[in-house]
Amino acid sequence: MLLGTQCVNDRGHLEIGGCDTVELAQTFGTPLYVIDEAFVRDNCRRYKAAFAAKYPGESEVTYAGKAFLVQAMARLVEEEGLSLDVASGGELYTALSADFPATRIKFHGNFKSDDEIIMGLDAGVGRFVVDNFHELRRLNALAAERDRVQPILLRVTPGIDPHTHRRIRTGQEDTKFGINISEGAAMEAVKEALALPNIELLGIHCHIGSQLLDAKSHLDAIPVMVEFLAEIRKETGTTLSELNIGGGLGVRYLPSHKPPTYEEFAESVVACLTRELKRHDLTPPRLLQEPGRALIAEAGTTLYTVGPTKRVSLAEAPGERYYIAVDGGMSDNPRPQLYDSVYSAMIANKAGQAKDRVVTVAGKHCETDLLIQDIALGESEEGDILAVQSTGAYNHSMASNYNRFTRSAVVFVRNGEADLVYARETLEDLIRQDRLPTRFAK
Ligand code: LLP
Repeated sequence: MLLGTQCVNDRGHLEIGGCDTVELAQTFGTPLYVIDEAFVRDNCRRYKAAFAAKYPGESEVTYAGKAFLVQAMARLVEEEGLSLDVASGGELYTALSADFPATRIKFHGNFKSDDEIIMGLDAGVGRFVVDNFHELRRLNALAAERDRVQPILLRVTPGIDPHTHRRIRTGQEDTKFGINISEGAAMEAVKEALALPNIELLGIHCHIGSQLLDAKSHLDAIPVMVEFLAEIRKETGTTLSELNIGGGLGVRYLPSHKPPTYEEFAESVVACLTRELKRHDLTPPRLLQEPGRALIAEAGTTLYTVGPTKRVSLAEAPGERYYIAVDGGMSDNPRPQLYDSVYSAMIANKAGQAKDRVVTVAGKHCETDLLIQDIALGESEEGDILAVQSTGAYNHSMASNYNRFTRSAVVFVRNGEADLVYARETLEDLIRQDRLPTRFAK
């Protein structure tokens, strides 16, 4: 499986963005996250174009920064004309520090602190996506103190149970996120928002789940959301102008994963949406979406150095197991542990070799942090460079310092050049926040 600009060069090495990955590993060290910049840019353009071509109303694509956000990514997103979804004060701070225009920022989160709300108000973020009554009232009060009227979307829960890992489902009624439509709470929130003087309610939002490998869950949610828009019009006389259907489109972690293309996804979503709008005699609202994974996951590859290898005899089939240890693991990619995630990989310095040996890739933490179980990789030995694919989303952004590992560097590659966008943390970084009370002085 070769993704984006990936190819095997005449040295038999994996190349990304015109850069030899073995050289990248030598120059920047490992583990190293490599982002294929042209691929990300192309994804941003194609996602936007797919909806712009099909949807009769206006459409807007908002990149979900939680998938991967550093200053350079915020700049890229801005250059590509997308908006940005931030889910914390920290993501907001990162975006603002990279001069991302505040008006194009959507501020998410189910418990925004007063400090975060104030930060968003003072920056002038374009939309707060309000998750609950508490936030609605705090936001109104804090906006009033600043003599501001803050545009918002209300996050509602359509009651759709998507078919994905239980830890990344959010559309069902039993969730911490949003206000349920079914019990009438969402309608109450709409009425309250319309009545609050320092809130301007523009629309409704839902996010159903993540890594969805077909459009089915979206097609379940859209009729519920449109019907709710129609009920709002009926009960309040207000026609809301924005509908945000969140993110969630899945990606290829394995060759067998076949998510819809953006174009196919747009086709299904728009057909369903226009049908439902017509049924309720509503003019097309501005359609907002928040893909994270779909734009960045496949564009990321993590390079590791292979260390010790080990063969274990098994009493049962297949009779033996080969372990290869790499110099990273759950601190740079916690997804296998959290979500039983699966990945494809290759030996970057022998990218053309036959994949005739099944191995298990282990991390180097004091845990059984198996990165990939039973993958056909071929022979591998100490010093090889392992390239794990589709690590662009929720890897760097979920990295930790577990076992006091330093967070890995990130490079953007394109046209044969590599730019460092996140420097590898140093040992000094690890103790920077430590404070040693004088009674411990030696
Ligand atoms: N919008 C909202 C409100 C969200 O909560 C999310 C993801 C997104 C958009 C973007 O979803 P995407 O297009 O990336 O599926 N850490 C997990 C994924 C958690 C997703 C949380 N919310 C993972 O590694 O699979």
